Amino acid sequence: MMEEAAKLLARSRFAIAFTGAGISAESGVPTFRGGSGLWKKYRPEELATPEAFRKDPNLVWEFYRWRMKLIMRARPNRAHRALAELERMGIVKAVITQNVDDLHREAGSQNVIELHGNIFRVRCTSCGYTEDLKRSGRLNEFLKEKGLPRCPECGSLLRPDVVWFGEPLPREALEEAFRLAERADVVLVIGTSGVVYPAAYIPQIVKETGGRVIEINPEESGITPIADVFLRYPAGEAMERLMERIGRMVE
Ligand code: APR
Ligand code: ZN
Repeated sequence: MMEEAAKLLARSRFAIAFTGAGISAESGVPTFRGGSGLWKKYRPEELATPEAFRKDPNLVWEFYRWRMKLIMRARPNRAHRALAELERMGIVKAVITQNVDDLHREAGSQNVIELHGNIFRVRCTSCGYTEDLKRSGRLNEFLKEKGLPRCPECGSLLRPDVVWFGEPLPREALEEAFRLAERADVVLVIGTSGVVYPAAYIPQIVKETGGRVIEINPEESGITPIADVFLRYPAGEAMERLMERIGRMVE
């Protein structure tokens, strides 16, 4: 299985990666579904919605500040680093991610398509103001502030620049992801339950256009039925083993 996956990648013409929360689990970022996903007594589905934000913006901001602090301390793991290395080798052409944690870029991936936004960005609920708190250097200050964050331009409520349940995905990112999926002859799917749409169409598009699907996940997922190769391992271990084999094949 591992050998087959390595071969598919080493011989690919245009491979892409499609990632979910599971790739960051070994960096200490909790996934959404399954065991470690809970915050206080809430499921993410109850907090990451426009309705929850309208009803109780303080609660939703408390949840996001908690996640931002947690993700701030997280470092990319060997699976993120392996994807960056595959891009440098010319094998992986793009990483399409559902994650908002910025860890692919931190690991050195250049062509990253973020389908669900970025947790370090905020945007105004009224005007067009957006801010990348990591790049503006205001992240620490922002996390220390109590109460609801306000727009410096118009005073309205700020919100995390992430996609909530029931919201449309950023159009350009989604179109780019679909274009890449149509071109790809191999998709390496890592750590996603594959149940959240439209993101979960990405591996399906690759499959329908004649490409191969490699999946890495310690559990079966919504993607497993269409996987040509299913590697039932945690992301770090699987990527390390894959990289050894690919390294031998392309030298
Ligand atoms: N390595 C690889 N996969 C792992 C690991 C690991 N170490 N640990 C867990 N997983 C797998 C789980 O088996 C599960 O299939 O990661 C997956 C995580 O699934 P979800 O929590 O559903 O995360 P994801 O698929 O990214 O969710 C999609 O839902 O809440 C929204 O917007 C949010 O982007 C998110 C979207
Ligand atoms: Zn504003």
